[in-house]
Amino acid sequence: MKQFDFLVLGSGIAGLSFALKVAQLGRVAIVTKKSRAESNTNYAQGGIAAVTSKEDSFEMHVRDTLEAGAGLCHEDVVRTIVEEGPARIAELIELGMKFSEREGDGGKELDLGREGGHSKRRILHAKDVTGREIERALLAAIAKNPNIEIFENHFAIDLITTKKLRKDDAPNRCVGVYVLNTKTGEVETFASSTILLATGGCGKVYLYTTNPDIATGDGVAMAYRAGARIANMEFIQFHPTCLYHPKAKSFLISEAVRGEGGILKDSKGVPFMDKYHPLASLAPRDIVARAIDSEMKKTGANCVFLDITFKPADFIRERFPNIYSTCLQYGIDITKEPIPVVPAAHYQCGGVMTDMNGQTDIAGMYAVGEVSCTGLHGANRLASNSLLEALVCGNRAAERARTYPEPKVEVQIPPWQSGNATNPDELVVISHNWDEIRRLMWDYVGIVRTNKRLERARTRIANLQEEIQQYYWDFTVSNDLLELRNIATVAELIVACALMRKESRGLNYNLDYPNTDPDWGKRDTISKKP
Ligand code: FAD
Ligand code: SIN
Repeated sequence: MKQFDFLVLGSGIAGLSFALKVAQLGRVAIVTKKSRAESNTNYAQGGIAAVTSKEDSFEMHVRDTLEAGAGLCHEDVVRTIVEEGPARIAELIELGMKFSEREGDGGKELDLGREGGHSKRRILHAKDVTGREIERALLAAIAKNPNIEIFENHFAIDLITTKKLRKDDAPNRCVGVYVLNTKTGEVETFASSTILLATGGCGKVYLYTTNPDIATGDGVAMAYRAGARIANMEFIQFHPTCLYHPKAKSFLISEAVRGEGGILKDSKGVPFMDKYHPLASLAPRDIVARAIDSEMKKTGANCVFLDITFKPADFIRERFPNIYSTCLQYGIDITKEPIPVVPAAHYQCGGVMTDMNGQTDIAGMYAVGEVSCTGLHGANRLASNSLLEALVCGNRAAERARTYPEPKVEVQIPPWQSGNATNPDELVVISHNWDEIRRLMWDYVGIVRTNKRLERARTRIANLQEEIQQYYWDFTVSNDLLELRNIATVAELIVACALMRKESRGLNYNLDYPNTDPDWGKRDTISKKP
C-alpha cells in the first residue's frame, strides 16, 4: 500500500495547481491515467477569463457570467471566483506562464481576447494554445518540487470510504483509492486522509466531442458510487464550432476566432446568427449551438461555415497558429476559405457538488475543476470561466486543507479483490457498448431533447448497465472496461437530471417544456445513489 499526505487524482490545471500548494504541507501523489500532460487543460485554446484591464470591472464579469448561466448561477460563488481571479493569474505568471502580450501605451501589456457572452475583452491567452502553455508551466514547477511524485498510466478505479469498511454511524470519510497500473495490470492501493478529485469532464459520453480520450467522467462516476451528491448533469455544453472534416478527430475552432470578428455562415455564404440573437455570432454558446443545429436541420446541410478570411492573413497566422496549421493539414487555408464547423459536446457544467472550497459531501474528499459543480456556471458556462474556476478553487481547497487538516483514520484497507476473474476474450462486447452509449447520447440526449427520446435513452442505458455490471464482476478490469462502466453511469446521470428538470433553461432544451419555469430557477438538479 502506498501512503501519502495528499492524493490528487488528475493532472490538469485543477490537480496540478492544488498539488503545488499542498506540497508545502506534506508529501503528494498525483495519479493520472495517461501521460502527465494529457488532459482537457492541455487542449484549451481561447484562454482564461479574468478582470485585468482598466476598461473592465468585477461587476461586468459577474453580470456576464450570471447572464450566460440563465438564472441558475450561485451569485456568491460567481463573485468570489471572479474577484479572486486576478491574484491567481498573477501567481501563474510568477510561476513562469507566458501569456500573449501586445504593445500598449506604456509598453508591453497582456493581450486580451474576446469570446461569446463577454461584454469586454478579458481573455488572457497564449496565442491559441493556452492550455498547452499552462500544463508546461505547472509541470515544470512540479518537476522541481521534491514533495510531489507523479504516477502516470495509473487509472483510479474507485474511492475507498469508511462506509464500505465499517458498519457504524460515523460520517462517511474517504481514506484511499484503488488504482489500476495500466502498464502492469496490477491494482494498487493508495491511502491518504486528503484526496482531491480533479479528473475533469465527460465529453466522451457523446459520439462527437471536442474532448480528448481521457474525458470519460470517471470522477463523477466514482463519487456517485461512493455516495456523494451529483448536480446539474443535464447541462452539457455543446461548443458551436468543432472542425468538420472526416479525418479530424475532435479539433476545436476557438470561440476567439469569432471574438476577432469571425462570422457564421450557411453553405450559400449567408450569415444567419443575427436571426437568433442581437450579439449574432458572439451570442452565448447555448444559443449559437442551437442556432447551428436548427440551420443544419432546416437545410439538411452537414455543417455550417466560420469565415475569418476578411482579416489580414498575417494576423490570422500570428493570432491562431495552431488552428491555421491544423486546418492546413486537412487542406483548408483559413486565410482564404471559410472553415466547415459543427457543434460537439464540450463541457460538463454539473458534477460533484462542492462548496467554494472544493469540499464534497464526503469528509477528506475534495473536488475541483470540471469534475465539480460549485454553482459558478449555472445552466450554461461563460466561455473561458472554467480554467479560472479550477485555479481559484484549487487554491481555496488547498487553503482549507491547510486550515482544517484531516484526522488520521485507523482503518484496515483490504487489498483489491479480483475474485475469479479471467482475461476477457470478448473485447467486442466492450467496444460495441462504448459505441452504443455514445451514439444514443448523441441522438437522444443532444442539443434539443424530448421526453420520449430521454425515456428511450433511459431504458437503453439501464439494459446496457446490467450487461456491463455482469462483465465487470466476471472479468479482469481493464482501462476500456473501467471507462465503459463510468460513461454508462454518467450517461444515466445526464438522462436522469434531464428528465427531472421540467423546463428549458440554458443548455437543457426540451421541446416538451419549451419555456423557462421560475420555480426551477433556484433549484439545482440533484442525484444521489439510493
Ligand atoms: P482536465 O484538464 O481534463 O484533467 C483531468 C485529468 O484527470 C487528466 O490528467 C486525466 O488523465 C485525469 N484522469 C481522468 N480520469 C482519471 C482516472 N480515472 N484516474 C486517473 N486519472 C484520471 N476552458 C477555458 O476556460 N478556456 C478555454 O480556452 C478552453 N478551451 C478548451 C478547449 C478544448 C478543446 C477543450 C476540450 C476544453 C476547453 N476548455 C476551456 C475547458 C477546460 O479546458 C477544462 O474545463 C479544464 O481544463 C478542466 O481542467 P481539469 O483540471 O478539471 O481537468
Ligand atoms: C474556445 O477556445 O472556444 C474554448 C473556450 C472555452 O471552452 O471556454
